[in-house]
Amino acid sequence: MIVIKNKAAIDKMHMAGQLLAGIMAEMSDRIEVGVSTLELDRLIEEKMRRAGLFPVCKGYGGYKYATCISLNDVVIHGVPSDKNILKIGDFVKIDVAGSYKHYCADMTRSFFVGKVGTVVKRLAAAAQWALDCAIKEIAPGKHLSDISVVIQKEVERDGFGVVRTFAGHGIGRGLHEDPEVPNFGKPGEGPLLREGMTLAIEPMITEHGHEVVTARDGWSIKTVDGGLAAHVEDTVVVLRDGAQVLTRI
Ligand code: MF3
Ligand code: CO
Repeated sequence: MIVIKNKAAIDKMHMAGQLLAGIMAEMSDRIEVGVSTLELDRLIEEKMRRAGLFPVCKGYGGYKYATCISLNDVVIHGVPSDKNILKIGDFVKIDVAGSYKHYCADMTRSFFVGKVGTVVKRLAAAAQWALDCAIKEIAPGKHLSDISVVIQKEVERDGFGVVRTFAGHGIGRGLHEDPEVPNFGKPGEGPLLREGMTLAIEPMITEHGHEVVTARDGWSIKTVDGGLAAHVEDTVVVLRDGAQVLTRI
């Protein structure tokens, strides 16, 4: 069931999104050689609590951290660890969800450690481009899969792959609500977009093949072929004439 949000709900999700975006912006300075992903997670959780945001990932399905921090060939759900120490050239994706007065926002941003390779830059740009195109596509009366089609088309035009086995999602009081928002598909499928729908849109893209596998830690999802992967995510609300991104300042 897709829950349509009223203004009060959207305002809370917007507040969650703005606070999260502020914290994410502050992280750029902290992404440097020698820092562990666990330190980054702790720092983010501390900032969230200070801002009045509840870290909804913590405890979600038994997950123990406020963030997922995925490096290089890890696409999503990278588990923060003191053993993952950032080194030059690393491609870091930080995924964080937080709630304000019980309403969630979910976002992912990517960061470079020092000078990164050309592929990292191209992948990051392709994921961002696909997300931006998808957001521009949103309007009441379009089908949900119109979003998916745009993401797949833009990513594949750049020669990259889109992950099939994970997707974006509705969001609200729950971190994951209906509908599922795949990053690939056919036009004109799924529910019609309606004013007040809130979605987390999150292209997950790969350098080569789109197949992924769960790592030994039971959480991290990485590419089967070892290729690099990018992920970026924003929470949006469908408006009368388009969409508003709640997780950008
Ligand atoms: N923030 C992630 C998402 O985009 C959810 C992480 S699931 C968790 O949906 F269990 F790892 F928290
Ligand atoms: Co999400």
